[in-house]
Amino acid sequence: MVVLEDLRQIVGDRVTASPTELYCYSSDASLVGGMPDYVVLPKSTTEVAQILCLASEFEVSVTARGAGTGLAGGAVPVKGGIVLDMSGMNRIIEIDDDNLLVVVEPGIVLDKLNEALEPHGFFFPPDPGSSAMCTIGGLISNNGSGMRCVKYGTCRNYVLDLEVVLADGHIINTGSKMLKSSAGYDLTRLMIGAEGTLGVITEIVLKIIPLPETRKLVIASFETAETAGKAVIKTFSSGIIPSACEILDRTTIQVLKRCDPDLLIPDDDVVLFEVDGTMSSVDESAQRIVDVCATLASSIRIASGKSEMDEIWAARRLVGAAVSRLDPAKSRVYVGEDAGVPLKQIPNLIKRVQEISDEFDVPAMKYGHIGDGNLHVALFIDVMDKSQWKRLMHAADKIHRAAIDLGGTVSCEHGIGRAKAQYMDDQCGPALDTMRAIKAALDPKDILNPGKLGL
Ligand code: LAC
Ligand code: ZN
Repeated sequence: MVVLEDLRQIVGDRVTASPTELYCYSSDASLVGGMPDYVVLPKSTTEVAQILCLASEFEVSVTARGAGTGLAGGAVPVKGGIVLDMSGMNRIIEIDDDNLLVVVEPGIVLDKLNEALEPHGFFFPPDPGSSAMCTIGGLISNNGSGMRCVKYGTCRNYVLDLEVVLADGHIINTGSKMLKSSAGYDLTRLMIGAEGTLGVITEIVLKIIPLPETRKLVIASFETAETAGKAVIKTFSSGIIPSACEILDRTTIQVLKRCDPDLLIPDDDVVLFEVDGTMSSVDESAQRIVDVCATLASSIRIASGKSEMDEIWAARRLVGAAVSRLDPAKSRVYVGEDAGVPLKQIPNLIKRVQEISDEFDVPAMKYGHIGDGNLHVALFIDVMDKSQWKRLMHAADKIHRAAIDLGGTVSCEHGIGRAKAQYMDDQCGPALDTMRAIKAALDPKDILNPGKLGL
């Protein structure tokens, strides 16, 4: 058995077993809960390796955690044990302008990284709604993405190398500073999205890219969300790749207008198309989007300038949490919130979600990264009412199953954690057994973030 004193010998006073502090680590932004026995704040790879040696010897679970912004319980210690709070390992080790890369520790907050890169003229594109709080380590562990990924890709496209402490305390590098390599299995990709079940990430090399010169926003509205979905497909099949492509259904627009009545945005279902690049290329792309969508849209215009654009994006970022403005007696519950389908199925997914919302009488606000086929569904209920909970859970289950039926995924970017573990069989088929074999090979004692991913 591991006792507090063993951990103190490794990290000094950066360990706690105080119930009040442990409680703070017993949940994330999902419904999943689980109390740790210890919370440790490591400061170095060596400390993480020593902790894992100890945990491996005594078969104690270890769950790494970033900022706890996860929506699937990925960082919740459902089997107790040690939580490694990685937020103290938050240094930027090197910004290498010549090689277009940055070396960081996993605890750095995403916005802080981009603030540091900006004076160098670079950025790291993934931009989830939680960018002001989430850590790079957590983001990579879920293959997080966000609004810009429709053009720039997800985390997976930027990670060149990970320093990882394995379950037995051994330290490996999964890649290098090379932009490409054909040397063996792609262990970097294996660790991305593994949610800390195969190792603890302690250092990261990321590819960075030059900031675009300028951006433009096209605001299009449609009579139905399905028509909006059709316009998205038409835009992409015309060869235009926007730098963001977000849907905000009319319920979402109502929420935004409760927050800011002056927001210049139509009341129908809206798609925001952003384009970035040089001055002349964005002018041309924005105009092409207007032309392509004109016959489907009920209104379409190009935003007047940067301040209007910034206002609309700021509103979009807070919308997920703002839904109770519609009905203060109701709150959003994060279930069924991250489904995705191939582009062509978007109109079908939107239709199915609406039918499910009607069938179970659970209101649904629909928004999200429609250009990636990723629909965020905000279901909201009176959380004091048991019967509403029941209907909510049925509705969420049906949304997940609809996504799988349509050839999509139950999680585009938030991860599986514990919350969506029950769908892994249907989602992955026999590949889940391959995942189990990988897990058994790398973590035979099942100490790393156990109880996750349906493993
Ligand atoms: C967003 C989060 C919910 O896009 O992923 O706002
Ligand atoms: Zn999102």
